This record gives sequence, C-alpha cells and structure tokens, in this order.
Amino acid sequence: MDNIKRIGILTSGGDCCGLNAVLESVVRTATLKGCEVLGFKRGYFGLYTNDYVVLTDELVYNILGKGGSILGNSNKVNLFNYREEDENGNVTYSNVSNVAIENMKKDKVDALIIVGGDGSITSARDFMRAGIKVVCVPKTIDNDVPYTDQTFGYSSAVAQIVHAINSVRTTAFSHDRIMVLEVMGRHAGWLALEGGLAGNADVILIPEIPYDIEKVAEDLISRYKKGQTGAVVCVSEGAKSKTGEVVKREDNKYPDSVKLGGIGERIAKELEALIFPVTSQEVRSTNLGYIQRGGETDCYDKVLSFRYGSYAVEALYKGEYGKMVSLRGEELTLIPITDVVGNGPVGETSKGGAKNVSLDSDLLRTAKSIGIEFGD
Ligand code: F6P
Repeated sequence: MDNIKRIGILTSGGDCCGLNAVLESVVRTATLKGCEVLGFKRGYFGLYTNDYVVLTDELVYNILGKGGSILGNSNKVNLFNYREEDENGNVTYSNVSNVAIENMKKDKVDALIIVGGDGSITSARDFMRAGIKVVCVPKTIDNDVPYTDQTFGYSSAVAQIVHAINSVRTTAFSHDRIMVLEVMGRHAGWLALEGGLAGNADVILIPEIPYDIEKVAEDLISRYKKGQTGAVVCVSEGAKSKTGEVVKREDNKYPDSVKLGGIGERIAKELEALIFPVTSQEVRSTNLGYIQRGGETDCYDKVLSFRYGSYAVEALYKGEYGKMVSLRGEELTLIPITDVVGNGPVGETSKGGAKNVSLDSDLLRTAKSIGIEFGD
C-alpha cells in the first residue's frame, strides 16, 4: 500500500545479537520500496524526545554481524507510565505517550516497527490502541516471548553459553572441581537447557523444575565415584529450589523491577558443603552475565533477523497492523499483538506471561535420557 512513506523503528529492552541485522533488513527492504526509515534512539525514549536518525542503506550496509544496536537500547522507559525523579528524589509517573504521538504526526511517521520483548510489545499494543500503525519483531536472548518458536538473539546467546561451558570445563578437570555456570533467561529455562545440552553440562537447573540440592549433590558424588573428577552445572538465573525463592533484587527504576542474579554463588556454596566432605572437590561459580548479550551475531540469528525485518516491512505494506512477526516451524507468520501480551489495561502484560520450557518437551526428554541431572 502506498500510504506508508516513512517508517519509524526502535530497538527496545535489553540489547542482544541480531538487532543490527533487523535494522539492516528493514532499511534495505523499505528503501527498495521507496520508503524512508527513521531510527529512534534508545528505544521508546527517542520517540518521546524525537531523537532519531534517518537510516540510509549506506548507514546500515553490512552491520548484520555487529552486536548491540546502532540506535541504542533502553529497558527503563514506559511512555504510558513514565518515571521521572526530581533533584529531591521525588518520583512521579505519568502517561506521556501523547508527546510521542505528536512527534510522529509532526514528522509524518506513518507506521512503527517495534523491536523488543514482552514489555516493549506491551507498549506497542498501547500505541496501537491509540491509533498508531505498528508491527513488532520479537527480540530477546531469553526466548520467552509467546507465540513464536524463537526470538532472535537467542541462538547467539546459546553459542556464548556453549563456549563458556567448554572453557570452565578445562578448569573443572585440571583441578578436580565442580564448576557452576549461571546464565540468564529470566523465569524461563531455555538458555540453560539448550546451552547446557549443547555444552554437555552434567547438571542443568531451570526455573520450570524446582531442584533438590541434595539430589544434585548425590548425582555429582556418584559421577566422582565412577571416575569423573570434574563436572559442570549450568544454572538459570531464575532457578529455585523446591523449598526456596528465586535470588533477586528490586530496582524500581525499571518497568520490570525484578532483577534476577546470584543463584550460582548460592548453589556453589551449598554444593561444596555437601560434596567436599565426601570427594574433597571444591565448587566454584561463574556468572556469564552480559557476555550472553554481546559479541558477533551467529549465522542463525543473522538469517532469522533478516527474515523478521523484511517480513515486518511487508506486513506494514499489506496493512497488517497490530501484529507481531512470528516463527512457526520453518515459516514466518503474523500474530495479533493482543494474543502475545494480552488485552489488559494500559501497561499490563498478559497474566499468561512468558513462554516456558514445557515439561514434556523433546528437549527435556533428550537431556534426561542421556543422564543430565535436573535435581528433581
Ligand atoms: O531479558 C534479557 C535479560 O538479559 C535477562 O536475561 C536478564 O535477566 C535481564 O535482561 C538483565 O537486564 P539488565 O540489562 O537490566 O541488567
């Protein structure tokens, strides 16, 4: 449809690999259709401050492999519940989305492509309700966005986890140690499960399967007794014991105020207390952290991001607004944003929540069948 002459795009939420590939794909596809692309900087913040750059073919040429986003990211901004803090530390929240909508009108932005995870897609839904033509592209290393088989950024993060497991394994066997590797994923275990499987971890702990630390220790002691002097435990940041809570801190500067992290250290201490008296093995922990979000984008993510980006532009041209591009099997399709994040009040993501590892998935069955321990 020729009513789309100028598209705005923003990369919102935590950064990951593939963001630049989506940008390259969107710009190249749109340019060939004679459409201009404005890239708003630092996610929704750029839409509020009207801070953008005109993305030309020259600017995006061959940026597909570069980690991060040339536009910058922010996971602090919800324009429908915008947080401001004055010099005395007083915090207020207000709906400033009308400023962004005015900016778009003034600069004749016909439609938006929002690249982000569930929080960003929720804001996209709220802009859609305000009459903005919007299409979303699902991003996150956590792979927890529902109604798509895979988000871009996930595959590259799994590759980093595999590399890290292979690296800590050498210390595990040089020093007869147990190495705990904490990985990201929020409340979904995809990164730990697939990274742990491809890295051949001995134990994988994920949020979907609350663990019993004594069972984990028993498994590791039995491996030692069979002659395996080192081992690797891959634990998701959202994992919790059968009796415990997730390890978290609150930070109200972020719309998602729960920040996970630290379970690896806790598990290492608990395991050492149970294992050292029997096998004399020490337990050490490494938190892989932001390494999972950076580095060179892998081939799978490059191709998936290219596919997502060009499909999003095509969707706008077909008038398919209010949708998220989704991978189903081998094919791309479009899913209503309200299916993905629900149709609740402004700013509220569906109670259905994140896409989790299913307990009867083949991935889990495979891991269990080759003897990987889950502590259940
Ligand atoms: O959602 C991506 C993610 O990397 C999570 O896996 C992690 O819990 C979180 O973001 C960390 O966010 P921040 O950048 O705010 O520390």
